[in-house]
Amino acid sequence: MSSVDVARKAAAKEAIRYVKDGFVVGVGTGSTTMIFLRELHRLISNGHVRDVLLVPTSTETEVEIINLGLAHLLRYPWQVSHIDLAVDGADEVDRSKNLIKGGGAALTREKIVDYWARLFVVIVDESKVFDKIPASHPIPIEVIPFAWPIVKARLEEFGGIVNLRFGSGKRGPIVTDNGNYILDYVPKTEIVPDETEGLIKRVPGVVEVGLFSGKKVSKVIIGRSNGSIITMG
Ligand code: A5P
Repeated sequence: MSSVDVARKAAAKEAIRYVKDGFVVGVGTGSTTMIFLRELHRLISNGHVRDVLLVPTSTETEVEIINLGLAHLLRYPWQVSHIDLAVDGADEVDRSKNLIKGGGAALTREKIVDYWARLFVVIVDESKVFDKIPASHPIPIEVIPFAWPIVKARLEEFGGIVNLRFGSGKRGPIVTDNGNYILDYVPKTEIVPDETEGLIKRVPGVVEVGLFSGKKVSKVIIGRSNGSIITMG
């Protein structure tokens, strides 16, 4: 196992401690969260965790829940009254627990579920912690396809570089789970995450911004390459 895998596994296993019997659990997106989900599956299968329901934050997570044989536990936001706990990964975290998310283009459903949860626990390996964000990832922004050139121009006026995201396995721009496009924005100057989240969100055509406020994050569990963890929050 690589040192990053060791770190992710340590963070994911620690997050399991927040799951209680009867919880409605929001399940994030990405490789770290998939480790958490597989561990949760193990505990459900051997009866150590009972009566949980799982709300996915993406089609990737939904498919994994089905593939693990847990479709009977799958619920959507309109089928639950609340979410007790959301566990999700991140692309970058700063010292105030602000996040960049959306490397997997799932930011909108993630923010809906994560912000709604009573407890929002983020799991990352130590390479994702920075003094200031964005550090090495752009800020993903989900936009309705009709508006992408206008939003791009507006963001460029704010200052910085904006790219329409292309992926693999399909020609042309990637299309999100909600039928939208992603713009990746690299601001020209340092940002104040809360302010920038609000500023971008107000541009017509923007569906959601991949900046998540540290005020919404209950805990950040940082896994280290030696298998230990540090918890912020
Ligand atoms: C999905 O859109 C992202 O927000 C992921 O949560 C984030 O990219 C973390 O993924 P990994 O755990 O695969 O790094």
